[in-house]
Amino acid sequence: MGITKPVLVFGHRGACGYRPENTLESFELAFIQGADAIECDVVPTKDGHLIVRHDSWLSDTTDIAEHPEFADRKREGLVGWQMTRQDWFVEDFTLAEIKTLRATERLADLRPGSAKFNGQFEIPSLDEFLAASFNDGKHLIIEIKHGSHFALLGFPVAAILARILGESNWRERGITLTIESFDAAVLSQAKRLCGDIAKYVFLVESWGMPSDRTDLGVAAWLDEIASKFDGVGIEAKQLFDDGSLVSKMHDRGLLVYAWTAKVEEAVASIEEYYVGFINLGTDGIFADQPDLLAELVAGLS
Ligand code: G3P
Ligand code: CA
Repeated sequence: MGITKPVLVFGHRGACGYRPENTLESFELAFIQGADAIECDVVPTKDGHLIVRHDSWLSDTTDIAEHPEFADRKREGLVGWQMTRQDWFVEDFTLAEIKTLRATERLADLRPGSAKFNGQFEIPSLDEFLAASFNDGKHLIIEIKHGSHFALLGFPVAAILARILGESNWRERGITLTIESFDAAVLSQAKRLCGDIAKYVFLVESWGMPSDRTDLGVAAWLDEIASKFDGVGIEAKQLFDDGSLVSKMHDRGLLVYAWTAKVEEAVASIEEYYVGFINLGTDGIFADQPDLLAELVAGLS
């Protein structure tokens, strides 16, 4: 097995292989387990706060279905390109209402050890997340979720983020920040409003890849990203499919982060699975089980 170089380990939604995702308990565990940074997702509430959740709908990762007082707010809502679902949506709830919910494990069958914690942890606001002392001196990665969707609904998420960051003392506490989004317009807006306080990383999955995959097409696509942002956070599959992408990104000065390593996807051995990720040559890897990846990476350093 040819290992090329060590890489940073990012706790994806904290240590979401072990605790319900995007909770303070999940984030703290990721740092205890040796993560170099932790990643969280943010969405807005009805009253203009940001909370740490991955989706605009609430039933997959909270106990909202067990709250009869909110039963009448279940409705059909947009969750993607021409896709709807019946659910409860974050934009219909105030922060105070969100704080009455508790987090649940998204993948309860796959991760029963995490599901044991269902109902125990609060849904953090971004303010609470930033204030947590376990983040002191650490690197935090904040992903703005569904930016265009919320812009259409009238939520200026990048502006809310800039306000919250401006009011927090994270810089005095030695925290470093990366801000990410799949939405280039929202990420550019965040960069304009927040300035050089953070690195800005553009997220890419299959639908974000260029339609012109010739050398010229890929070069033009990467040149444009490099003219706007500091890095690319890319679905690992795209890198496995095209082994030249990482060096092309590095040639343009872009950081390259790959997502997401999850041991449940290992086909042969867990070590072989992680080594596949490490050998991609990226600067960082998002991992649902940061302890296992961090242990392997530490053995290489
Ligand atoms: O930050 C990279 C990764 O988190 C993006 O995908 O769906 O897990 O937010 P997702
Ligand atoms: Ca994310």
